[in-house]
Amino acid sequence: MGTVNHSAKRDGFTSGFGVLAATLGSAVGLGNIWKFPSLTGANGGAGFLLVYFLATLLIGLPVMIAEISIGRQAKANPITALRQLAPKGRPWWLIGASGVLASFLIMAFYSEVVAWVFAYVAKAVGGSILSSDPAVTQRAFDTLISDPLQSLLWQWLVLVFIGSILLCGVSKGIEAVTKRLMPLLFLLLLLLCSVSLSLDKAGEGLAFLFSPDFSKLNASVVLTAMGLAFFKLSIGMGTMMTYGSYFRDDQNIPRTAFRVMTADLCVSLLAGIAIFPAVFTFGFAPSAGPSLVFITIPAVFAQIPMGHVLMVVFFVLTAVAATGAMLSLMEVPVLILHERFGLSRARATLTTLVMLAVIGSGCALSNSTLAEFRLFGLNLFDLSDYLSSNIFLPIGGIFIALFVGWSWGLERFRLAISNHGTLNNARLAGAIFFLLRYVSPALILLVMLRALQLV
Ligand code: TRP
Repeated sequence: MGTVNHSAKRDGFTSGFGVLAATLGSAVGLGNIWKFPSLTGANGGAGFLLVYFLATLLIGLPVMIAEISIGRQAKANPITALRQLAPKGRPWWLIGASGVLASFLIMAFYSEVVAWVFAYVAKAVGGSILSSDPAVTQRAFDTLISDPLQSLLWQWLVLVFIGSILLCGVSKGIEAVTKRLMPLLFLLLLLLCSVSLSLDKAGEGLAFLFSPDFSKLNASVVLTAMGLAFFKLSIGMGTMMTYGSYFRDDQNIPRTAFRVMTADLCVSLLAGIAIFPAVFTFGFAPSAGPSLVFITIPAVFAQIPMGHVLMVVFFVLTAVAATGAMLSLMEVPVLILHERFGLSRARATLTTLVMLAVIGSGCALSNSTLAEFRLFGLNLFDLSDYLSSNIFLPIGGIFIALFVGWSWGLERFRLAISNHGTLNNARLAGAIFFLLRYVSPALILLVMLRALQLV
């Protein structure tokens, strides 16, 4: 395998705000707007929220800090990073390799949902999906996803769009774009929340989101909440390692991770606050699943003053969120092809695009041409969604935690997150290390085994 010449300065994030914007840009995505509200709705509201919150804090945050530290310490892609930091001959780099597989698995379905979002931006502007009758909005959605040509074209459009940003590089591409998009995202979200909260039954929607119904909790719901925590923070497959390798040396890693986690949680809650009051006011079911965004939301907007404009705002907001996340997903194979296989950045991006177009078409066509093709009762789209969040990411998370806890060791971890002794956070490092060494791997394993009914 060839490696690139490291004497040239490696591209990376340039400012503290840039680091925060890019990392938050990765975390915030369809997970907040498409997954979080519908999963919370389907699993009984605040009880689910509580479990999700605990999983984020006890498992997500430590693993995120671990990934970023590994990346920054090695200043290399996940495979090279783990080879460099592990004792000679130990196969820890396999975490990086399986991460590449997981990234394609996630992008295969993710890019298709992003494709629907982009298509909906166009349709929202044209006004064609605005109807107060859910049967009509349902038909509009079905027409889109069951049309093979439309599905593929929108997906390719998304890939070309993301690819062209990646071509500009890390600081001039990813950082420059996310720095502008993240503030815009908060602005649009707050606008939608203020409209939603002024509706009649805002209280009922909020009560649904915030009053716990623990009767719905069982092992598989807990696994779903944990999978969501992984998916939300972009951890378990090397994305955060990749971004970590672009972190500045003076960046405070635990603080950045904590801020990203908090801001990401805020975006999810704000998305819930924007969506549920409106859903209740117009008498829709809160647990409408993933179709909440594409079927219920347009029907809700049709009944709100200025609904046409607000719907454009909503889908632009979703497209903005999805862009930062897609950038981070695609950057993983791009960096590996570039650094480990010696391709130029342009070729690496192009190769990833083509591979993704091929693999992704399986998901794009899973509601049309390939609808009959099922494994374990799921079509390709649902299968990649389930496998990535509930199997690949948690297993990746276990091994990342084990690597830091048992191979890298406390001393080196402490040095890495204290910026070689410049920061005074030794106690914090000890606590995070304890979580990584014992708590996170055991919890993840237990939840997985229970949910898959193996214990
Ligand atoms: N976190 C993003 C979201 O919520 C999705 C995402 C981006 C992701 N990069 C990832 C998920 C890496 C898992 C792993 O939409």
